[in-house]
Amino acid sequence: MKAVILLVLLSLVSAASASNRQPGLRDAAEKRGLLIGGALRLYASTLSDPLYLETFAHEFNLVVPEHVMKFENTQPEPNRYDFQGGDFVVQFAHDHEMKVRAHTLTWHDANPKWVTEGQFTPGQLAGILHDHIATVAGHFRGKVISWDVVNEAFDENGNIQREGPWPAIDQGAGRNLGHGDYIRDAFKWTREADPDALLFYNDYGAEAINPKSDAIYRFVMQARLDGVPIQGIGFQMHVDINSAPDEASLRANFKRFSDLGLVIHVTEMDVGIPGGRGDDPDALQAQADVYVMVMRACLDTPTCQAFLTWGLTDKYTWLNSRDESAPLLLDVDYQLKPAYFAIEELLDGSKRHR
Ligand code: G3I
Repeated sequence: MKAVILLVLLSLVSAASASNRQPGLRDAAEKRGLLIGGALRLYASTLSDPLYLETFAHEFNLVVPEHVMKFENTQPEPNRYDFQGGDFVVQFAHDHEMKVRAHTLTWHDANPKWVTEGQFTPGQLAGILHDHIATVAGHFRGKVISWDVVNEAFDENGNIQREGPWPAIDQGAGRNLGHGDYIRDAFKWTREADPDALLFYNDYGAEAINPKSDAIYRFVMQARLDGVPIQGIGFQMHVDINSAPDEASLRANFKRFSDLGLVIHVTEMDVGIPGGRGDDPDALQAQADVYVMVMRACLDTPTCQAFLTWGLTDKYTWLNSRDESAPLLLDVDYQLKPAYFAIEELLDGSKRHR
């Protein structure tokens, strides 16, 4: 309980001190009717960092929890649910006039051992997933604008992948995995639990036109024709300065999903700089160019409603444990990077100090 009181006090302090600062990205985004956000990391390190929550709320009007709404955190043991982290995110968002995009209900990763190591029949697995979705989506009903109902279910060849516990629901029951019945059911169950949230399929490596995005496109088009409530596509956009998607292909891909009537979110963007050159001006400019290219494609797509980075500052990126570095808009000292200024200029035409 003490932790929660501390966190709430922190967020109150943050609201006061942020008010005397330059406008944040959220001010520029709101002029374009765009939600701009990031993944919020609830670690002891971030929550004890006085700049973290304050800066997050100053810059963003949308928050996605990096961890606390995933299966391993919300149902760590059978029928024992833990919503403390998710409830903090919802309260933090409410206190700072932000929206919440919830992530994620069905994924091959971030599942607790009692699921991954259990000896369950397909029917038991279906029951576990159904009850999880009904309980978690039901708990956050009315508090989130969207759910990543299913995350990363297709492989790079465009096949529904067999990783994780959930495909066994179909494989074990003699159902055709390629029809994606467990995916279809997850969307139907989420809709039953939350009648209003936008329901998203979220994935990486499908930002441009390729076998993976072709397969997702075909699946979503057919599922919607069959009455499955899939309303949005999340393009994660985990790229680096040497592997950004081709702009024309990205735009064409955004357009075809938008033409289906799907809402588009850029859900997890980060642009890694390989080889630890996070202070190289040329690398930082190349990074800014990639962010602007994607943001411009979003702004030019009628149904692209949100743009999120996977984190706030290079100090707390998931990529720190990898060879890539400095992938976000603020550096390890919360200083605004060229990519930040480039995004801000695109959004509101301002040309601040570089
Ligand atoms: O909480 C445990 C801790 O108790 C343990 O001591 C520690 C060491 O093993 O692990 C901790 O769990 C880690 C968890 O993050 C919380 O820190 C997991 O090992 C680690 O695998 C997990 O990584 C996260 C990953 O999703 C899996 O949930 C990353 O931080 C997070 O950035 C990443 O985010 C994903 C999106 O959800 C989906 N799209 C891709 C993106 C990047 O992989």
